[in-house]
Amino acid sequence: MKLFLDSADTSAIKQYAHIISGVTTNPTLIMKSGRDFREVVNEICSIVDGPISAEATAEDADGMFKEAQELSSWHKNITVKIPMTEEGIKATRLCADAGIKTNVTLIFSAPQALLAAVAGASFVSPFLGRLDDIGEDGLALVREITGIYKNYSFGTEVIAASIRNPVHVVECAKAGAHIATIPPKVMAQLYNHPLTDKGVKAFLTDWENAKK
Ligand code: E4P
Repeated sequence: MKLFLDSADTSAIKQYAHIISGVTTNPTLIMKSGRDFREVVNEICSIVDGPISAEATAEDADGMFKEAQELSSWHKNITVKIPMTEEGIKATRLCADAGIKTNVTLIFSAPQALLAAVAGASFVSPFLGRLDDIGEDGLALVREITGIYKNYSFGTEVIAASIRNPVHVVECAKAGAHIATIPPKVMAQLYNHPLTDKGVKAFLTDWENAKK
């Protein structure tokens, strides 16, 4: 499984650059960074050598495709995020035919993931946490999508998105999601266990005593 960072915070991206192989952004994350879209995306591309998702915001297929052409001209690693709408799926097909990589975002059902794969999406992003938020089962959706994709040779990779905790990451790995895109707060949680802290402290104390 590959780990991406779900963030436009370049200091967090630098912190985890040794462990991540891509970055996802969205308009909300760009807004939170308080920086110019192009400037921050280009800086992210200079930190991580892997797929960097930047979102198209037009609502019609031709507009999204034009934006995709522009965004993908900024850097070879830019993957254009396309919202899961009927126009978005048209744009995904246009991008696939033009060799532009896409990440179909805001996926909340298996039929949506199937349509995106058939249209030639490079990635699909099911949003687990947001499904959990409304009392549905986000992990069940990830399992359903990976199960369907295993039957075919779509070439579309599943990015488990809207990750809220380490259990989400582990369960997505068990489900065979290719990638989990993880916010910095959850990334930090992945490292921690109280018994590790306790063990490190005890070993250091004993080492000091052994040297006496
Ligand atoms: C994915 O690419 C999205 O940026 C992200 O995972 C959305 O997560 P949220 O539900 O925490 O906003």
